[in-house]
Amino acid sequence: MQIQTVKTTPFIGQKPGTSGLRKSVQTFQQPHYLENFVQSIFDTVQTYQGSTLVLGGDGRYYNSNAIQTILKMAAANGFGKVLVGRNGILSTPAASVIIRKYKAFGGIILSASHNPGGKDGDFGIKYNSGNGGPASEKLTEQMYSNTKSIEWYKIISAPDIDLNNIGTFQLGDLTVEIIDSINDYAELMQHLFDFEKIKALFKSGEFRICYDAMHAVTGVYAQRILEELLQANHNMVINSIPLEDFGGGHPDPNLTYAHDLVEIMFHLNAPDFGAASDGDGDRNMILGKNFFVTPSDSLAILAANAHLVKGYKMGLKGVARSMPTSGAVDRVAEFLGIDCFETPTGWKFFGNLLDANKITLCGEESFGTGSDHIREKDGLWAVLFWLNILAVRKQSVETIVREHWAKFGRNVYSRHDYENINSENANQLVEELRKQFPQLVGKKFENYEIAFADDFSYLDPIDQSLSKNQGLRIGFTDGSRLIFRLSGTGTAGATLRIYLESFEPDVSKHHLDAQVALKPLLEIAEQLAHIKYFTGMEKPTVIT
Ligand code: G1P
Ligand code: ZN
Repeated sequence: MQIQTVKTTPFIGQKPGTSGLRKSVQTFQQPHYLENFVQSIFDTVQTYQGSTLVLGGDGRYYNSNAIQTILKMAAANGFGKVLVGRNGILSTPAASVIIRKYKAFGGIILSASHNPGGKDGDFGIKYNSGNGGPASEKLTEQMYSNTKSIEWYKIISAPDIDLNNIGTFQLGDLTVEIIDSINDYAELMQHLFDFEKIKALFKSGEFRICYDAMHAVTGVYAQRILEELLQANHNMVINSIPLEDFGGGHPDPNLTYAHDLVEIMFHLNAPDFGAASDGDGDRNMILGKNFFVTPSDSLAILAANAHLVKGYKMGLKGVARSMPTSGAVDRVAEFLGIDCFETPTGWKFFGNLLDANKITLCGEESFGTGSDHIREKDGLWAVLFWLNILAVRKQSVETIVREHWAKFGRNVYSRHDYENINSENANQLVEELRKQFPQLVGKKFENYEIAFADDFSYLDPIDQSLSKNQGLRIGFTDGSRLIFRLSGTGTAGATLRIYLESFEPDVSKHHLDAQVALKPLLEIAEQLAHIKYFTGMEKPTVIT
């Protein structure tokens, strides 16, 4: 095995964001760009000699090229074995399952999640640790620091490996095992959910589902699990074939981008249940017949009904949500008498709580839900959880949500995104808003009075690490909230996210459209932050 030590120089800006390093494909295609980052990962995690790495991605453009390079670098750097998903495919949750099941040292997942793909789209790379979860901030900071001083990387010269066939190959001293991308994941799902009950629901012929794979990675997982194992209605997976450019679409499961599904579900003859996942399969959107379930409500409803589901009937240890996620789950936690943790945005902050057995379920408003079965959010898992609840309760999605609101009250919620705006203006908006904070408490706007205004900081209760500047929060005396954050996953300009939440205990008002109910809060947001002025936009690009 011939190990080459290739001289290189640092690239500016190889800083992992909310979820790994994401850049345009063209950026990644520059000579040494990927190699520098991979070497920086290896130099950060260090003690992997002879151990196992898991490798795969969401199948977007450049996936296979990157896998071939990483395999040769893993061989040169002394890994013992790499488990690669067949065709280079592993959804993010499946990668987490495999890392945990085979007790791998860690894993590299190639994905830019919900960002568009293709030659002109985005690519991404993230490292997951041995617990199956995203690298901690400490690790990602070290990776970034290494990228700034890198002088060389190690690689072997060898022919490419055939990724299309299951089997074991040798790459110098490294063993490369091409594994089925779905088996281990499907097995875990069968363990957690009552497949027989769900199968019976489909068999009754009275229940139909439509699942939009958005031409992304979950196409193959959904076909195996929903069609083959659960025998759901025929042709229920739409956009099922994973494509390198996701068919030109934006693989983000929300009401704007999953338009094919939305059209089917908001139609006269709609199926009973609709769902979609994102590029790498960790997000989910849940729909009923003519009905949208907000991700925050979805988390709360899973928590409230977990006792009905095979893998969770022993009860929940606790729950957690990211700070901008609505407080709906907090109410369920209070009812159940369990802890509810509020963490910064990003799945990595749930890792310590999960590892310490403090929580069973967790989620984010950004269409992410998951549990202690792995250390990533999990799109198909959420779909199966819902199907299991539906199979037991035998009610419609809408009835389940409305009954939930009647019992716990409704946390009316929406997020407004202003995408690809000028970064300087975005930062200025945040600065100007922050400056007002000392004067805001007690300020009144018709029915609303500001109770607190702060910059969210999180002290991790397990390792005591402190994460500052995690979003501006403005809380009102009636429990309503306005939150402002800049996205950490974009690759061009800035994206401003405004999160709006109010609480409505009155059932007679539960039918109101969220945008109508939240209008007064939106007006306050505009008054305080001058959104139109700083973004140069009359309205958001995406509303979820
Ligand atoms: C977004 C979501 C966040 C999620 C992340 C990765 O990050 O808001 O909840 O964890 O994608 O899927 P953001 O772009 O807001 O930094
Ligand atoms: Zn994703």
